[in-house]
Amino acid sequence: MTHFDAIRHDDLMGLYELTRTMSRLEDDADILRTVLKHFVIQIGAEVGAFIYYNIREDAFEVRMIESTLTVHDTDNYFSQTIFRKILKTREALLSFDTQSDTEYSASQSVVINHIHAILAFPLIINDQVYGIMYFDSRHSRQKFTEASRQLLTFFAPIASLTLAHALRGKAMHRENVALKKLLPQKPLPDIIGESRPMQQLTRLVHKVAPTDASVLILGENGVGKDLVARAIHRLSSRHNKPYLAQFVGNLPASILESELFGYKKGAFTGANEDKMGLFEAVHGGTLFLDEISELSMDLQAKLLRVLQNKEIKRLGENTIRKVDVRIIAASNKDLKQLIREGKFRDDLYYRLNVIAIKVPPLRDRREDIPLLARHIIRTAGDGSDKKISQAALKKLMVYNWPGNVRQLENVLQRALIISESAMIEEEDIVLEDEQEAENMEGTMEELKNRLIRERIRQFNGNKTLAAKSLDISLRSLQMKARELGL
Ligand SMILES: Nc1ncnc2c1ncn2[C@@H]1O[C@H](COP(=O)(O)OP(=O)(O)OP(=O)(O)O)[C@@H](O)[C@H]1O
Ligand SMILES: [Mg+2]
Repeated sequence: MTHFDAIRHDDLMGLYELTRTMSRLEDDADILRTVLKHFVIQIGAEVGAFIYYNIREDAFEVRMIESTLTVHDTDNYFSQTIFRKILKTREALLSFDTQSDTEYSASQSVVINHIHAILAFPLIINDQVYGIMYFDSRHSRQKFTEASRQLLTFFAPIASLTLAHALRGKAMHRENVALKKLLPQKPLPDIIGESRPMQQLTRLVHKVAPTDASVLILGENGVGKDLVARAIHRLSSRHNKPYLAQFVGNLPASILESELFGYKKGAFTGANEDKMGLFEAVHGGTLFLDEISELSMDLQAKLLRVLQNKEIKRLGENTIRKVDVRIIAASNKDLKQLIREGKFRDDLYYRLNVIAIKVPPLRDRREDIPLLARHIIRTAGDGSDKKISQAALKKLMVYNWPGNVRQLENVLQRALIISESAMIEEEDIVLEDEQEAENMEGTMEELKNRLIRERIRQFNGNKTLAAKSLDISLRSLQMKARELGL
């Protein structure tokens, strides 16, 4: 029968503080360290240690020591006899005058280290001894008492439970991480690409889609902004509601306004009947505003109001209508620059840009080119199921793709028409070199890279000749080529 009649009120209060601290800790090591520190002070121990019991090897492993003195030889410092006894009894153990205690005096370590008193208790998880919390002293023995033993007996199940909880959390986390690594990232609907930038994009889209936040999709022409917008809608809780896209670029402001907001009959000449605008038509769903940078200042203000108040007024009408619309906007321009030039409202920018998704240009994910090429050929719809040669793929992979995936589609469509065999060959791939050569846009670094790529391509991948033509060493060309992933 276990008794707790000797536990002192002060010690209980100390225990209360300790358990409160422990309940805030999530890491097993933090918990163990806290317990050791607490009792080293509370019972005036010189050494506190956590000894893990390796059940498979039936061996004790010293994992953690909190001590006022330096324990040099941890292997021989601790008494295996005491550990074995706790393993058997599964109870807190107190031994004072260890030197004369016949049961332990035979134990080498106790004699060598002149230990006078020991208090230890087992941590039991799933009915197995997980480890032992150990405290000893050579000098002060005042607190190595029956009261302390009772206190530790009382505390042992609490400590075990807290530790078990932390270990389970850790195991689950590890399992989660491992599973996540095993699972291939769920692909985005209709979007091809396994390169690292595309994996990052995929992860971000999966995170963003289920929220109701406005999204700003940025990226060059033809990178797939439309596809990303659609994917966000399809992966969101609004997927059963409408998705509408409105191209904002080069549309007269008045027409765009009536498209977006709708109008009342007679609001302007030609308004022959009431018409619902896109904001209303898409109620509950997602509206994709493509090339948002082209929005007039007036419409920018109106769009901002819709975003803020979630209500619209049709042209020529005073009735306010509530709308629930998620806005996704896209731009291939640098909106920050337009803000500086006073062409885009910064308050609207921040409203739209709750989450920004940058779709990487094709030249930054060349690994995806073979996948994309095969996908485009397969879905080209001429039913010919042509293949593409390695040389042709290589030609595609070294090109710079200023028009990105759309340009790749065009080039392959042309190749499919030109090609006379079942295989698209290198010569079927016609790239817009002249246009490319004329294109002097970009930084010095970009121009240099483009030139290097161009030359390697011109010399069919012969780097020696390419280097010679550029009057640089083969070595530096090779280094550059590696950098560019050629
Ligand atoms: N990752 C991809 N996988 C498959 N097809 C793609 C991918 N990216 C783009 N495409 C295709 O390339 C073409 C251009 O894509 P999209 O219209 O989405 O680009 P965009 O960024 O909106 O271009 P723009 O700036 O001209 O509006 C489309 O036909 C699209 O289907
Ligand atoms: Mg587009």
